[in-house]
Amino acid sequence: MPKMTFVLSNGERKEVEAENGVNVLEIAHKNHIDLEGACEGSLACSTCHVVIDDDWFDKLEEPTEDEEDMLDLAFALTHTSRLGCQIEMTDELDGLVVTLPEATRNMAVDK
Ligand code: FES
Repeated sequence: MPKMTFVLSNGERKEVEAENGVNVLEIAHKNHIDLEGACEGSLACSTCHVVIDDDWFDKLEEPTEDEEDMLDLAFALTHTSRLGCQIEMTDELDGLVVTLPEATRNMAVDK
C-alpha cells in the first residue's frame, strides 16, 4: 500500500498508509491527524488546507477552478497549498509529504 507523510504543526512527521483512491483528508482522519475538513470534501470550506512538499506539488493533478476559489480563502496560503479533500491517493503519489499549516488550529478531533 502507498504511504504518505504528514508534517504536523509541531514539526513531528507522521508516516501513514494511504490507500489508493482515498483522499488526503480521509487519510488524515483515519490516522487521527488534526485536519478539520468542515464540509467533508464538498469544496465548501478551506479547513482541509495542506501545504504540499515542493517536490510533490507538480506531480499532483491541477486544482479545479472551484478548488482555487476556496483556496483563496484559506488562511496562511502558500504557493504549494492545496485542499486535502481534493487530492486522491494513487501509486504515483507513494511517498507524498504534506504539511499542516501552522495557523489552522482546530479543536482536537481525536477519534
Ligand atoms: Fe471542505 Fe475540503 S473539506 S473543502
